[in-house]
Amino acid sequence: MRKKIIAGNWKMNTTPDEGVDLALKIYSFLSNYNLDQNCKVILGVPFTHIDRIIQKVDSSKIAIAAQNCSQFDSGAYTGEISVKMVKNLGANYIIIGHSERRQYFSENNELLAIKLRQCYNNNINPIYCCGETLSERDSNRHFEIVKEQIIESFKDISESEMLNTIIAYEPVWAIGTGRTATPSQAQEMHNYIRLIIKDLFNQIVADEVSILYGGSVNSANASELFKCADIDGGLVGGASLKPDDFINIIKSAK
Ligand code: 13P
Repeated sequence: MRKKIIAGNWKMNTTPDEGVDLALKIYSFLSNYNLDQNCKVILGVPFTHIDRIIQKVDSSKIAIAAQNCSQFDSGAYTGEISVKMVKNLGANYIIIGHSERRQYFSENNELLAIKLRQCYNNNINPIYCCGETLSERDSNRHFEIVKEQIIESFKDISESEMLNTIIAYEPVWAIGTGRTATPSQAQEMHNYIRLIIKDLFNQIVADEVSILYGGSVNSANASELFKCADIDGGLVGGASLKPDDFINIIKSAK
């Protein structure tokens, strides 16, 4: 049975000290909470925070994700961070292809395919983000765009690699805007993504892959979204920085 996942994406927020405080608040809640066996909490934190947070929380309660990685193994790439480095710190996930990386750092599907390959080769689980812009949705191209992103990024990957992947559907027009996709808009796209996975692999793989919704998830809309058949949790930006809100979102995942 596929997992329900509540993942926070802190983006470039908090100092390491503040990040440890935030992680400890969530950890202290989870230490006394009976989280469903099938449910997982992941925090996507800045690289600078990974080591300190991992030292302070039990990985069976909170798993840690990096938010990006280099496409290269190692070498003269000043300022870059490899998957191996992230893995060595104890993180088990990396967010790949967030729309902010596509938009501000010109990451395209071809590059993301290489970053995915780096993740699989180093036994780290990618959280792969896809989603259309507002103009793409307004021109009714959202299905085509998401299909293209997935097909181009996931070429040459095996069934077992796909099973180690989480997909996050994040419509760009809903990110940080307070405008959320309606549960039916999100469900429609999640169902479509599952069909793409089925076509690329098979029904068993499609049924096992967790597909998260991201885009202005908050404590008020989370439970409606998470009730949808193909929505397996959320990738939460702004609300993941507010411990009470994030905790309420975790409580919505049943
Ligand atoms: P918001 O929840 O702030 O809209 O951000 C969503 C997101 O980008 C998660 O990766």
